[in-house]
Amino acid sequence: MDTPTNLQNEKLRSWVAEMVELCEPANVHWCDGTDEEYDQLTQGLVDAGTFIRLNDELRPNSYLSRSDPSDVARVEDRTFICSRTREDAGPTNNWMDPAEMETILGGLFEGSMRGRTMYVIPFSMGPLRSPIAQIGVEISDSAYVAVNMKIMTRMGSAVLDMLGADGHFVPCMHTVGAPLEPGEADVAWPCNPTEKYIVHFPEERSIWSYGSGYGGNALLGKKCLALRIASTMARDEGWLAEHMLIMGVTEPSGEKTYVAAAFPSACGKTNFAMIEPPDAFSEDGWKVTTVGDDIAWIKPGEDGKLYAINPEAGYFGVAPGTSMATNPSAMKTIGSNTIFTNVALTDEGDIWWEGMDGDPPAHAIDWKGQDWTPESDTKAAHPNARFTAPAGQNPVIDDQWDDPQGVPIKAFVFGGRRSGTMPLVYQSFNWAHGVYLAATMGSETTAAAFGEQGVVRRDPFAMLPFAGYHMGDYFNHWLAFGRVVDNPPRIFGVNWFRTDEQGRFVWPGFGENMRVLQWIVERSHGRAYGLESPLGWMPRYDDINWKGLDEFTEADFRKAMSVDRADWDKEILAHDELFIRLNDRIPSEMRAIRDLTLSALWRSPEHWEMNPDPT
Ligand code: GTP
Ligand code: SPV
Ligand code: MN
Repeated sequence: MDTPTNLQNEKLRSWVAEMVELCEPANVHWCDGTDEEYDQLTQGLVDAGTFIRLNDELRPNSYLSRSDPSDVARVEDRTFICSRTREDAGPTNNWMDPAEMETILGGLFEGSMRGRTMYVIPFSMGPLRSPIAQIGVEISDSAYVAVNMKIMTRMGSAVLDMLGADGHFVPCMHTVGAPLEPGEADVAWPCNPTEKYIVHFPEERSIWSYGSGYGGNALLGKKCLALRIASTMARDEGWLAEHMLIMGVTEPSGEKTYVAAAFPSACGKTNFAMIEPPDAFSEDGWKVTTVGDDIAWIKPGEDGKLYAINPEAGYFGVAPGTSMATNPSAMKTIGSNTIFTNVALTDEGDIWWEGMDGDPPAHAIDWKGQDWTPESDTKAAHPNARFTAPAGQNPVIDDQWDDPQGVPIKAFVFGGRRSGTMPLVYQSFNWAHGVYLAATMGSETTAAAFGEQGVVRRDPFAMLPFAGYHMGDYFNHWLAFGRVVDNPPRIFGVNWFRTDEQGRFVWPGFGENMRVLQWIVERSHGRAYGLESPLGWMPRYDDINWKGLDEFTEADFRKAMSVDRADWDKEILAHDELFIRLNDRIPSEMRAIRDLTLSALWRSPEHWEMNPDPT
């Protein structure tokens, strides 16, 4: 076993030795995080048939990978929070007794890496010397995981130096659950077709993942560590671990405001984080820069402000729908040094997916490796196909994105995918009201998780699949922040996804979201006007900057902003259902604000001047 010379941490050494004994790998490889190692591992993946190297003229140093068709997204029903008591995990998480789960995992992991190489992957979530960062070590029998972790985290030898002799790390165990018998040939995407377990032990702060090689199931720094385990750390230590993008907004005056936004999976975080303002805005001097696109760790600073870091170093972004029209900065970010998973392969050796600019290719190989033409009635790319790209390649990366101290947050934005009911934008009346807005957020389910799509479910704070403890306690934790932070960030709700009777989006979205963002930024400084509505403060047509968007009329705006009484009666009932589910730990503020909202809705909004036909 080629133990690195700078390994001083005895805990790590003995944990790895123990796991070698349990999993019985054929080899052990300690990742050093160098480019040479990356080249060797990717070449190995090409030789194994897992990776296809793309055309180097069109897409330098980039690869395509096709997963097993049964292993394409996070598996929420196989994800467990094994806290000591069921109550601590709460009713929105799967729970199993930790001892019982340990027995199951012990059996599954025994000999699980036979015939494979065990990769030991030291990584930091957050800039290496950040007081907000955390170290993890993932053990995995997947080279795909190792190379993705190199892009997604600060990975390698420097982390062992940081760890020193007695530093703390989160142990993250991962196997694809497909041991090889002697002489047995491997498949391109090994995984376990029947058994999958994504398990968290929050008190012990450890992670065990079995049977899947895909995304958040396998890249354990992301959802498992940076959200599920980190959220419990954050509860205990007084900070926040959130499913949020972080963006910097520079106004024509030069003033810069940092905004964090939580949207559920595949609901527009990457797009918003990299938003290209409309020309009329750029000409006036508006600029948006990206700190992060998926996760934010937020701590109160000594000055009473909230400081956020992006714990990640890369983007694991949804490919379908990404184009020069919708997200030019993402297209530039993935121009080279990128791993694509489950997209289509063109005859030129480049990638393609539904929603990319221009005509579809006349012929391609789809994500299952089959011939595909525009006449095919299947999709060329899987709806949850993703790219893994280094954050540093983002042309609009924020100059503070790597700052260990983080950036001060001035506004929080929450938004689900709702074809009805929710208006384009509104601002909560105060912090507790904002917590209510976020806690009751609903969203139509997407391909980012295995299961039915398009059903509205409550997704509090976009954290339903990611909170590592009882959701009621999580609301309380957020409420507590409003009491300790001076002048807490303002809280907003948005909905880019409202549709009309024909099912078309009412709001143009993407770059045009800048108009809403301007109002949010100005409101967070107390500068823009709004109207008091039953739900919160709302911009009137004249409160939004419409420069350069002639085709969107005041009538369209009213449609996007309308609040329907009958819809809201149903909406409040859905909030009630959530509160009943969380009844044992729901903060009293939630029911109080529900009652106030109902009371405000009782008279409005039929009588309310914002609606399309106020009577
Ligand atoms: P995760 O990585 O799963 O956490 O998702 P994300 O929130 O980063 O999602 P992403 O930005 O990748 O958005 C995915 C989908 O949302 C794509 O299909 C986009 O086309 C769509 N989308 C993003 N922004 C908008 C918008 O403003 N309007 C509309 N209609 N669709 C949008
Ligand atoms: C999400 O589903 O919210 C993601 C993708 O960001 S994954 O890392 O697979 O969870
Ligand atoms: Mn996400």
